[in-house]
Amino acid sequence: MSAESFVPGQIVSPSQAMRLAIEEGRKGAGYVSPNPLVGCTIVDREHRLLAVGAHRRIGFDHAEIDALKKIDSEKHAAQIAGGHIYVTLEPCAHQGRTPSCARTLAPLKPASVTYAVEDPFPLVAGKGAAILREAGVDARPLSERAEIEDREELIALSEELAEIFLYFHRSQEPFVALKLASSLDGKMAFVSGESKWITGEKAREHVQLIRARYDAIAIGRNTFVADNPSLNVRHPAYPEFKNKVVVFDPDGQILTMLANSNLLRVRDPHSVFVIVREGVALTNPSGVRVISAPADESGEFNVTAALARLRTEGLTSIMVEGGAHTVGAFVRERKAQRLHLYLAPSLLGGKHGLAWSTHFGNDQMSGKIQLDRSHRELLGEDLYWTARLRYQGS
Ligand SMILES: NC(=O)c1ccc[n+]([C@@H]2O[C@H](COP(=O)([O-])OP(=O)(O)OC[C@H]3O[C@@H](n4cnc5c(N)ncnc54)[C@H](OP(=O)(O)O)[C@@H]3O)[C@@H](O)[C@H]2O)c1
Repeated sequence: MSAESFVPGQIVSPSQAMRLAIEEGRKGAGYVSPNPLVGCTIVDREHRLLAVGAHRRIGFDHAEIDALKKIDSEKHAAQIAGGHIYVTLEPCAHQGRTPSCARTLAPLKPASVTYAVEDPFPLVAGKGAAILREAGVDARPLSERAEIEDREELIALSEELAEIFLYFHRSQEPFVALKLASSLDGKMAFVSGESKWITGEKAREHVQLIRARYDAIAIGRNTFVADNPSLNVRHPAYPEFKNKVVVFDPDGQILTMLANSNLLRVRDPHSVFVIVREGVALTNPSGVRVISAPADESGEFNVTAALARLRTEGLTSIMVEGGAHTVGAFVRERKAQRLHLYLAPSLLGGKHGLAWSTHFGNDQMSGKIQLDRSHRELLGEDLYWTARLRYQGS
């Protein structure tokens, strides 16, 4: 369902209105961090579609205001009074980069405002809805609209839409996604380091799109050495996108190799974070950001502590692209939340193939990780599979 398949004036059900808001909200992907993706639909008292809106870019209008501005300003007060507003996240209560949405909507006197997810951000949590209710608007979470039969699904979709923001504010940690290109037998490379290319062109182009959703891309030292990757976003949808990179390198060995690397060919040194062990002596000729994090006797980082350091550097999300060692460290500490898997119809086989789940540290069925809310799509010959990771007991 997309807003383009509906025309203003057409009757839409409450469920359709929320679905339209979710679809519209996706249009800000890659442009709104550290804000959430949010969509909004406004209908009149007869449930005729007036407008849909989205938060399209950081600093731009919030979804509710974007939708309001699409309604003829002379008529909108009359049309919205008694109408209904469907929004994927609770309207904001505070004045930030833009005015408070709750305070903008309240005087327009809509009959109801339905929001799918309560905003966990302390300046908003429950306060946006309270402002509206004080003004006599029936402002309620979608969970309380019993008449909307598919509300559970709509809430789940709205949670997914804003998952980075919601996770970050609920846990105070950056959201972590994993991206893996794998053969059907679960291999991501040969131990020799050879890994190009497992998947086809369409899958590789799709990765570029996914990269834009996260503040930074993370890799381990071996991947840097084996692949000399750029890890930038090369997609027509994001012509000027500049992302950050994190490299896990306990002894800081790559610091002297970075000068002629592709990482620094496409971005400035301040966008590269190298995570090293606390206390290690190093030289940093390229001037990248070196962050020290605690490690155990074997040199393994405490990933939770490393994430806390990255949070103080302003990162709300990272996507870990490998290799197996680095991916495993995040899974072992249960910090990876989403999987982006590109599965190729090939078998690498052999004893020297590197399986991407080797370092997950699980040897029993009771520890298996479940994939929730899977979405699958064929990209050329490859299968793209994305899902949330659910750890046992959580
Ligand atoms: N198919 C794909 O999607 C894909 C994606 C990326 C990479 N790859 C391939 O994967 C291979 C590399 O994988 P890999 O598993 O050997 O290595 P890796 O994960 O890229 O790097 C591992 C190294 O990074 C450091 N490191 C990473 N996480 C750490 C942690 N939590 N604590 C301490 N140190 C950490 C360590 O450096 P030290 O050795 O200095 O201790 C470790 O040996 C390459 O061949 C690459 O081409 C494939």
